[in-house]
Amino acid sequence: MAKKRILSGMRPTGKLHIGHYVGALENWVSLQNEYDNYHLIADYHVLTTNLNTELIYENSIEMVIDWLSAGIDPVKSPIFRQSQIKEHTELALIFGMLITKARLERNPTLKEQIRDLNIDNIAFGYLGYPVLQAADILLYKGDAVPVGEDQVPHVEITREIARKFNNQWGIVFPEPEPKLTKFARLPGLDGEAKMSKSLNNTILLSDSPEEISKKLRKAVTDPQRIRRNDPGNPDVCVVFDYQKKFNPTEISEIDSACRKGEIGCVDCKNKCAIKIADFFAPMREKRAYFTENMSEVKDILADGEKRAKATAEETMKSVREKMKMG
Ligand code: TRP
Repeated sequence: MAKKRILSGMRPTGKLHIGHYVGALENWVSLQNEYDNYHLIADYHVLTTNLNTELIYENSIEMVIDWLSAGIDPVKSPIFRQSQIKEHTELALIFGMLITKARLERNPTLKEQIRDLNIDNIAFGYLGYPVLQAADILLYKGDAVPVGEDQVPHVEITREIARKFNNQWGIVFPEPEPKLTKFARLPGLDGEAKMSKSLNNTILLSDSPEEISKKLRKAVTDPQRIRRNDPGNPDVCVVFDYQKKFNPTEISEIDSACRKGEIGCVDCKNKCAIKIADFFAPMREKRAYFTENMSEVKDILADGEKRAKATAEETMKSVREKMKMG
């Protein structure tokens, strides 16, 4: 039987942080043998919140370097920019006819973004970005989409659009399932629920061991713990969350030492910084290689775009045939 297909996507905002690795990339890498994967760089999606496109190409390349360094195999799985395959916009236009404005306005993820970003008059393209996302997924007939909780409503919209199309014109599309990422997101260094570039609370995949330890020194720990010998509460400490992921063998020891006030935050942070630096060492090495061999990265992208384009054209051909617009 043919392998099922995964479509995964990410907005290119530049260099990725360790939260991207834990929340997405690690999962993508572990799925690449079991499924056929397509890895989309959602560069058009960036326009919803940022019309300055000056760095969009550089940011996309930096993201691809991080993907490759994390272990995405571009021979198995094409990597491509949404903007280079015009079938995305073509299919999005048709899909836009299959969903109401009210349905898009009910999208909880969008509502939250509108609230957080204080948007009072939303752009047509922003309201409709889940429609473009549906085209991203269905153009490659994705059966599954690895996502975090916040993207589940978009996969639901994608399913509804697929169903509507199939009922109207005949079956072309699968109804894709969201594939929730196993690990919860890593909290930010400042104690925020997640790492995010805009909050400036991240550790980048490209950070050197020195940078990692410098950043960790400022990480938020249990605020009740003032002196080194005070008992601590690891449940409210971001460093402990990082230890769980990057230092699992010592975790119960650290837990009890912290609660008894036997290990201080400085020592705990030093231990953690070393573990994080070691964990990402092979990736930093690969990153250095790709940074010096940029032409290889560009070739990988060109090859991915050629392969993705072939699949996209094939899907659009059957869409047009079904619609008698072939
Ligand atoms: N909307 C996603 C985000 O904001 C990015 C994205 C675009 C995506 N197209 C996709 C994710 C297709 C998964 C599948 O992060």
